[in-house]
Formats: sequence, C-alpha cells, structure tokens
Amino acid sequence: MARAAPRPAVLMVAAVVAVLLPDAAEPRILLTLDDFGAVGDGVADDTKVRQRCCSVFNIISRTRRSPGSSSYLYHDLKVTGGGIIDGRGQQWWARSSCEEKKNCTAQPAPKAVHFEDCHGISVKGITLQNSQQYHLTFTRSSNVEANYLRVTSPEDSIDTKGMHLVDSKNVHVMDNLISTGDDCVSIMGNCTDVRLRAISCGPGHGISIGTLGVNGSVDYVEKIKVDTLFISNAENGVRVKTTKVKFESIVMRNVTNPIIIDQGNSDDPADSSEAPQTAATAVQVEKINYIDIRGTSASEHAVTFSCSDAKPCRHLSLTNVNLTWVDGLKASSYCRKAFGKSTGTVIPESCLSKEDFVHHVPRHSEEDEEEDSDS
Ligand SMILES: *[C@@H]1O[C@H](CO)[C@@H](O)[C@H](O)[C@H]1NC(C)=O
Ligand SMILES: *[C@@H]1O[C@H](CO)[C@@H](O)[C@H](O)[C@H]1NC(C)=O
Ligand SMILES: *[C@@H]1O[C@H](CO)[C@@H](O)[C@H](O)[C@H]1NC(C)=O
Ligand SMILES: *[C@@H]1O[C@H](CO)[C@@H](O)[C@H](O)[C@H]1NC(C)=O
Ligand SMILES: *[C@@H]1O[C@H](CO)[C@@H](O)[C@H](O)[C@H]1NC(C)=O
Repeated sequence: MARAAPRPAVLMVAAVVAVLLPDAAEPRILLTLDDFGAVGDGVADDTKVRQRCCSVFNIISRTRRSPGSSSYLYHDLKVTGGGIIDGRGQQWWARSSCEEKKNCTAQPAPKAVHFEDCHGISVKGITLQNSQQYHLTFTRSSNVEANYLRVTSPEDSIDTKGMHLVDSKNVHVMDNLISTGDDCVSIMGNCTDVRLRAISCGPGHGISIGTLGVNGSVDYVEKIKVDTLFISNAENGVRVKTTKVKFESIVMRNVTNPIIIDQGNSDDPADSSEAPQTAATAVQVEKINYIDIRGTSASEHAVTFSCSDAKPCRHLSLTNVNLTWVDGLKASSYCRKAFGKSTGTVIPESCLSKEDFVHHVPRHSEEDEEEDSDS
C-alpha cells in the first residue's frame, strides 16, 4: 500500500474514499472525478468509477468537461513521487490457477493502477509490485508517458501483466524495469503511435502486440516502435499479431521464442495459448521490421513466423539478426505462410518466402514500405 514520503500534493487527494476490496486486508484508495473538484452530474458510470481504483502518491490534475459530452475527462494528470504501490495479488494468483481448470466463478482480478479516458497523463518514478492482474493500464487515453517505473511480481504470478494499453494513442513508455509472470508490455485493441524504449523485461512473457481477431472482432494496432530492449528468461521476446511495427536494437537472453508471430495454428512448434480455430479470422500481420536483434534463444526455434492460410503474413523484414540457441547450438527458423525479405547477416538463416509468391493479396508499392520503415 501507499508508503510515499509525505508531500504537500497529498492534499490534492484529501477527498479520496477508502474502500475494502473483498480479499484485501488493507484499504485501497478509490479516486473518483469528484476528487479532482469535478461536480458529479449523476451520469457517472459506477463500474467505470470502480475501475479507476488507484493507490496514489502525488497527483496533480486538471479536469474539464469534454465538449458536447456530459462526462469529465482527466487532463494533464501526473503521478510521481518514488513510492510503492503493492497490489498484494497473492490470493488472486492462486485463483488464476483455478481459472485454468475452468473453475473460476469470481469476478476478474482488479488492476492495480488503471487510467481510462485520460488525455495528457504522466506516470513517473514509482514502483508497482505484486499486482493482481495488471500493474498499470491505460484505456482510451492519449498523450501518455510512463517512465522510470519499476514493475515487479514473481515469475509464478500467473496472468500478472506489467503494462497494458488498449485503444490508446501517442503513448511513450521508456526507461522501465518490468519483471512479471505474464506479459511485460501488451498493446491491444486500436492502439496507435506507441513508442517503447529502454525497457528491461523478464522473466515473463515478453512484449505482445495486437490480438488475433477472434470471432471476427476488429482491433487495429499500428505504428508501434520498440527499441533498445533487454529481454531475459522470458517465454517470448517480441510477439506480434498486427501491422506496422518496428523492433530495433533488442538483446535477448535465454528467451524461449525470441521472435514470434503465431496466428494460432494447431501445428505450431511453439506453444500457442489461443485456440487453433481462430486462424481463419486472424488479423492481417504485415510490415513488421526486425533490426539488430541478437542474443540467445532457450529453444531451437529462435524465429517463428507461423501465419494463417487465410491471411499469410507479408512484408516481414529481418535485418542483422543474430540469435543462437543457449548452449551455443545452432538455432533455426520456422516459417509457415510467411513472406518478406532479409538483409545483412541473419542468423538463424531466414526462411521467409519471397514476396512475389503472394498472389492473392494486393502488392504494396515500394514507396509505401519506405515510408513505414522509418516511422
Ligand atoms: C472449484 O472450486 C471450489 C472452491 O474453490 C471447490 O470447492 C470445488 O471443489 C472446485 N471444483 C472443481 C471441479 O475443481
Ligand atoms: C476498435 O475499433 C473498432 C472499430 O472502430 C471497434 O469495433 C472495436 O470495438 C475497437 N476495439 C477496442 C478494443 O476498442
Ligand atoms: C466465439 O464465438 C463462439 C460461438 O459464438 C463462442 O462460443 C466463443 O466463446 C467465442 N470466443 C470468444 C473468444 O469470444
Ligand atoms: C532460462 O529461462 C527459464 C525461464 O524461461 C528459467 O527457468 C531458466 O532458469 C533460465 N536459464 C538460465 C540459464 O538462466
Ligand atoms: C553471433 O553471435 C554469436 C554468439 O553471441 C557470436 O559468437 C558470433 O560471432 C555472432 N555472429 C555474427 C556474425 O555477429
């Protein structure tokens, strides 16, 4: 719980409401719009308010009524201060293992710190630990910065993710150390213009970008740039199910699937957690660039591009990749319906098919590709 050094800004949260979560031994802090001086208009969605459950240190905010809407939006919200937010998630992790056996009747685990509809938000220099499910999430937010954070929970904290972005744009996540049981950073539905930089991930499930598009759902995640990462002892390094992503300068150490695209084919050599029948409706994976990726793979398949028959992966590009199997053995690449090119030294040797063999999808012009590769 909150153990921040006393600071005058705490006055800003004098109106917070302490609530007891069902399994928590200690009170949590629930922040509502009213805490920022907004006048309740009676239309507030109770569930949303509950989701905004935060333990907070220094909060400086301006709110304003959005034009043509009866709801308030958070603007220029800053969370700083060097304190620790401990989600005390141990009981929830135990429950997740019951979930795997399809024996879970409880409500979904809460998120430690969640921001929704925030525009201009900065979270800096705090420690988030032992969250129940997600340590830090942003939904429908824009102009977000999440820097100098330390996010930790044990390797066996099932389903516990570091940072999670949904439907957000213009997000900068930099200089963070993230070590959890599940994804380090996941970027899902409709996120665009996201930059991840200087992040250390692991253990956990690495970086996950995009979703499979199960049951015809449409989620667009694009224009994501990831660079200067160190990923160690993780299940995946960089995992993608979307378009327009650039990965650059990434060092892997003992990562089971350092580079992976899996559209849920049942014959995948790599573990696929999603159901195999999703392949038919899988989202298009294209324009993914991997540049300067090196280090060690914990499995033979250092590179896995397992794409679907319905939507083969296209315009994949590998440039200067050097991944070896942990004990010095030669690693290999696996490709299924994967099209693209390799340049420079690529180890293990690329198995991408030449783009020319994609007949049934429209070709993109060189110009288009050029523009994307420096985005
Ligand atoms: C499901 O969980 C409940 C409570 O945790 C337990 O009593 C019950 O035996 C479990 N059922 C199965 C099928 O595992
Ligand atoms: C993404 O956008 C599509 C189309 O606007 C919408 O149907 C879908 O619900 C959005 N997904 C998320 C997770 O916001
Ligand atoms: C997809 O649709 C089927 C049938 O409507 C349903 O049983 C299944 O739960 C859905 N899957 C997801 C992930 O929503
Ligand atoms: C490699 O990573 C796995 C977890 O994925 C871990 O259990 C194992 O101890 C690591 N090996 C080394 C040599 O660090
Ligand atoms: C690839 O990495 C291995 C192990 O780190 C190293 O020995 C080898 O020289 C590298 N190869 C190239 C071409 O950089």
